[in-house]
Amino acid sequence: MKALVLAGGSGIRLRPFTHSMPKQLFPIANRPVLFYGLEAIGAAGVHDVGVVVGDHAEAIRQAVGDGASFGLKITYIRQDLPLGLAHCVAIARDFLADEDFVMYLGDNVIGDGVEPIVSAFGRTRPAARVMLGKVGDPRRFGVAEVGPDGRVLRLAEKPAVPRSDLAMIGAYVFSPAVHEAIAAIEPSERGEREITDALSWLVAHDHVVEAHVSSGYWQDTGTFAGVLDCNRAMLDAITPAVLGSVDDASELIGPVVVEENATVSRSRVIGPAVIGSGATVSESRIGPYTSIGAKCTVDRSVVENSIILGGSSLHGIPGMRDSLIGRDADVRRAETPGSCSLILGDHSSVAPAV
Ligand code: DAU
Repeated sequence: MKALVLAGGSGIRLRPFTHSMPKQLFPIANRPVLFYGLEAIGAAGVHDVGVVVGDHAEAIRQAVGDGASFGLKITYIRQDLPLGLAHCVAIARDFLADEDFVMYLGDNVIGDGVEPIVSAFGRTRPAARVMLGKVGDPRRFGVAEVGPDGRVLRLAEKPAVPRSDLAMIGAYVFSPAVHEAIAAIEPSERGEREITDALSWLVAHDHVVEAHVSSGYWQDTGTFAGVLDCNRAMLDAITPAVLGSVDDASELIGPVVVEENATVSRSRVIGPAVIGSGATVSESRIGPYTSIGAKCTVDRSVVENSIILGGSSLHGIPGMRDSLIGRDADVRRAETPGSCSLILGDHSSVAPAV
C-alpha cells in the first residue's frame, strides 16, 4: 500500500493567506495542517508517500523535507495546474505503479486517522473504499448515496440538490482499477477531472465501491470557519506543557502549552491554548481556543478563539476574537479613539465581531 497526499490546488477561499503560503501549511494548534495527515498515514503503517504539490511546492518541501521526521519516504509530484483530484492520481501513475493506495486531501484533518479505512479495505479488497461523514450542508462536498449493504450506489460532486447528507471527507483507498476509470472520464463543467466521476465510473462498470462511514471528528480546513473549528478541536487534544517561562504574576488555566523560549508575564492564559516558541506575551489575556505563533509579541491585549501566525504583534488590542492574523502582521490600538489606520493585503477582511 502506498499513499498519495494532495497538497496542490489554489486555496482561493483562504485568501489573502494563500497568496503567500499553501493552505496545507496553515497552522492548526501551531502545526501545519498537512502534518496531521502525514502522521495519520504513518500511523496506518503506510510509509511510501507521494505528495502532489503545485505553485507553493518549495514551501511544502521545506516544511516536510524527505519525510524522515514522520517516518515516511516522500516523493514529490509536481502538478503544473490544479486540474482536479483525479488529475493528481493520473500524474502520480508512475509513482503509484500497480499498488493499492490511500489518497488523502492535504487540507483535511480526520480525527480517527486512516488506519480504520485502510484495514477495512484490506479485509474485503473492493475497487475503492471512500470515507463518508454526515454534514449539515452537503452542497459544498462530494455526496454519496449508499445502499443497505454499505456499497456506494451513486455519487455527485457539489450537487445543488443533494440526495443524501453523506459527504466524502478527505480519504479514499483505491485499487489500481481506478486508473482505468480516470482514463475514461472527461473534465467536469468546472474544468477539473473529478475523483467523484472516476468513482461513479467504477460503480457504473460493476466495480465494488464501499462506503466507510465515520462518525469521528473531521474538518476541511479550506475555509476560515473550518480553520477555526479545527484549531479548537486540535487544541482540545493538547497535552499541557510549559517549556518556556511563566512569571509568578501570570496564571495558566486549563490545558496550555507554552513552547520553548516563549515568555508569559503578568498575563492570564486560558486553555486550551498554545503560545509558540519564542513568543512574548505580556499583560494580556489569551484564550480559550487560541494559538499564538512562534516569535509573536502580544502586549496589553485580549485574544480569544483566534490564530495568530508567526512573527506578528498585537499591542493594546482590547477584544480580538474569531480572528486569523497572518505572518509578521502588526496590529495596534488607535492613538485617537474612533479612528484607525489600515494596511491590508489583497482579499483581506475586517469586520466588527458579531
Ligand atoms: O473536503 C472534502 C471535499 O474535498 C470532498 O467532499 C469533495 O468531493 C472533493 O472534491 C474535495 O472538494 P474541495 O473543493 O474541498 O477540494 P479542494 O479543491 O480543496 O482540494 C482538496 C485537496 O486537494 C487540497 O489539499 C488541494 C488539493 N488539490 C486540489 C486540486 C483541485 C490538488 O493538489 N490539486 C488539484 O488539482
